[in-house]
Amino acid sequence: MNAPLHLHVEVNPRSMLAAAFTPDRLQAAAAAFPGLLQGISISYGGGPADFDRHIATADALLLTGQADLTALEERAPRLRWLHYTSAGVEWLLGGHFPPGLAITNASGTHEPKAAEFSLLSVLMLNNRIPELMNAQQQRQWRQLPAPTVAGKTVVILGMGALGGAAAGALKPLGLRVIGVSRSGRPHPAADAVHRTAALHEILPQADFLLITLPLTPETDGLLDRAALDLLPRHAGVINIGRGPVLDAGALADKLREGSIGGAVLDALPVEPLPAQSPLWDVPNLIVTPHCGLYDPVGYGPRCLAMFCENLRRFRDGAPLAHVVESDRGY
Ligand SMILES: NC(=O)c1ccc[n+]([C@@H]2O[C@H](COP(=O)([O-])OP(=O)(O)OC[C@H]3O[C@@H](n4cnc5c(N)ncnc54)[C@H](OP(=O)(O)O)[C@@H]3O)[C@@H](O)[C@H]2O)c1
Repeated sequence: MNAPLHLHVEVNPRSMLAAAFTPDRLQAAAAAFPGLLQGISISYGGGPADFDRHIATADALLLTGQADLTALEERAPRLRWLHYTSAGVEWLLGGHFPPGLAITNASGTHEPKAAEFSLLSVLMLNNRIPELMNAQQQRQWRQLPAPTVAGKTVVILGMGALGGAAAGALKPLGLRVIGVSRSGRPHPAADAVHRTAALHEILPQADFLLITLPLTPETDGLLDRAALDLLPRHAGVINIGRGPVLDAGALADKLREGSIGGAVLDALPVEPLPAQSPLWDVPNLIVTPHCGLYDPVGYGPRCLAMFCENLRRFRDGAPLAHVVESDRGY
């Protein structure tokens, strides 16, 4: 008789997401899939002490936060599926993974907050809120009126789950939405989507630049000083993807000299951003420390529902959804 499927659930207690992935929450999410957990043996862990013992027999691993995933072929010889409960997988893909190990991620889980936070950020920049905050801190009565965003252009770099959700939220305000992605695939909420090669031609049109890119060898440093120099002086820059995609030092220089309008950075070049980083003091820059897209109420249930649907597929031998392609890097 075949051994039952073994699912190991590893939750790094240091992860901001840890509270969302408790055993009772998994059971609650699985209730929507009758019989799903029958015949599946589930172990739970939260640290390196027992990790090796658990993965030695695991067929599937549900991982929250980071763990040591080196030499999985030897340490986890049965492992065929790893689901990571975040969207960014660059740290995972740096490693060597056994051939045949499917990796899935939580891309899509952030969509509702990505829509709201993008809207919030564009509206804050349009209404010059960073400048008004600076003036308030200096007790200055500076009246900075702003027109509505209708008719302005937002360039969204990355048109996947985050970029698509942002486009859907921004388009109804009358913004012209121009997407840029690797494929240039059209999106219903975008007026046009171009491939990456067209980026430098498009940047001069951006009243707002919204970056939603994953970190890959191709995107690392894509928004360098030369690219930022192509933006209009009044443009607002938002990064909700990954920090190293954008040269934050060049952005800071431009904000200080007034050759860019303002910025909102949820993704930073180093996280956590050290207290001594000069970025904390840059004028017209709002830093939201990688929390703008996290929904402490809805994230866990959405993520676990996505996982349970994939667990059903895994159990039934069906193709998994949200598969990360290791050669593409996202
Ligand atoms: N701030 C946060 O809390 C937060 C939350 C979630 C995610 N993230 C980060 O945001 C990233 C994106 O998340 P997602 O769920 O939207 O991912 P996704 O659905 O996989 O979409 C990624 C998008 O980036 C595009 N892309 C990839 N490489 C590119 C390149 N070289 N040039 C232009 N476009 C490129 C893809 O193009 P194609 O459409 O052609 O494939 C796709 O449109 C994640 O990887 C993660 O690092 C941050």
